[in-house]
Amino acid sequence: MLAICKEVKILSVDVGNYLLYVDRVTKFFGYGLLGLRKFKALDEVSLSLPLQEPRLFVLIGETGSGKTTLLRIILRMIEPDMGSVYYKSKNVFKLRSSEVKWYRREVQAIFQDPYETFNPLRTIDSYLFDVSKYLLSIGKKEAEALVDETLRFVGLSLDRVKGKRIREFSGGELQRISIARAILTRPSLLLADEPVSMLDASLRVNILNIFKDVRDKLKTSVIYVTHDLATAYYVGDEMAVLYRGVLVESGSIEYVYNDPLHPYTQLLLNSILEPDINIKDRVKPIKLSSIEIKEFLTPGCKFANRCPYVTPKCNKEAPPLIRVNGKRAVRCWLYTTSSNT
Ligand SMILES: Nc1ncnc2c1ncn2[C@@H]1O[C@H](COP(=O)(O)OP(=O)(O)O)[C@@H](O)[C@H]1O
Ligand code: SF4
Ligand SMILES: [Mg+2]
Repeated sequence: MLAICKEVKILSVDVGNYLLYVDRVTKFFGYGLLGLRKFKALDEVSLSLPLQEPRLFVLIGETGSGKTTLLRIILRMIEPDMGSVYYKSKNVFKLRSSEVKWYRREVQAIFQDPYETFNPLRTIDSYLFDVSKYLLSIGKKEAEALVDETLRFVGLSLDRVKGKRIREFSGGELQRISIARAILTRPSLLLADEPVSMLDASLRVNILNIFKDVRDKLKTSVIYVTHDLATAYYVGDEMAVLYRGVLVESGSIEYVYNDPLHPYTQLLLNSILEPDINIKDRVKPIKLSSIEIKEFLTPGCKFANRCPYVTPKCNKEAPPLIRVNGKRAVRCWLYTTSSNT
């Protein structure tokens, strides 16, 4: 029997205990003619990573759930409309100019399409040496040693990549080089946005194993963003499930994968999909479908439209996030008791 506790409320939290503390982040985007009407692409999303122990944290959800938007906010590429992001106790949107470079060394990212990361006219190694020059400010000899050591960490070497351009590498090798570039500064946090979804299934495990090495050998925490629950289970320590900008379930992978509580997580598990590498998926879907927008705008549970357990209350009121057994959380009226509804 599950022990149900009260709604999770973040009150006075000591952000000093966390590497990353995302606190009720909300982001509005425009839609419709001229983009004048607004929807919440992220709705009070909170998550955290501990300071002491490196973690592989999986952020999972289907296309359009807000995963990339959240990563872009953590990277300071866009600002949230509400909420805060703390990194090593600092509010990342209030960094002093002298701290911005530090943050770029500490928090690095790799993206879905390695072919978009590199310019076909430039040599691959120039990207790595740029990082050593601008973010690490080290000399040529030291940089060469560091670049070689880092490329070897991902299964390549400086000799193998020197002077070459992207057409001379496979997608898997390019993604390894993207990881090498990202870990060159020895960041404490690596954000990986669907990094294996465009690779052949046979190559995915190798790349995912590098993320495990990054966590275990470099002691770097990783936020791995995916819509693929099978790879999530393979690498993750913890996970959070997003649906239409709302965090619907979170907890350790063991709990969430083996005993999913939220009907959307159950659906994800029942339909473990092969990632779609169709070219259309590479383009960000800025134009929202009417079903998507209806779900984003509903005052009730965003999943009500598709949920087999929907009740009239689900359509009217958004469920709160409920802690279950102190170890996991779920946002669904099925898990509330009459005392806290
Ligand atoms: N710059 C933007 N302007 C308007 N809508 C956007 C913008 N970026 C993303 N969106 C919309 O916000 C929602 C979340 O997008 P995104 O964060 O890319 O989701 P995911 O990475 O989970 O696929 C989607 O409906 C997308 O169309
Ligand atoms: S709150 Fe209602 S509609 Fe939403 S997931 Fe739970 S049962 Fe389904
Ligand atoms: Mg995305």
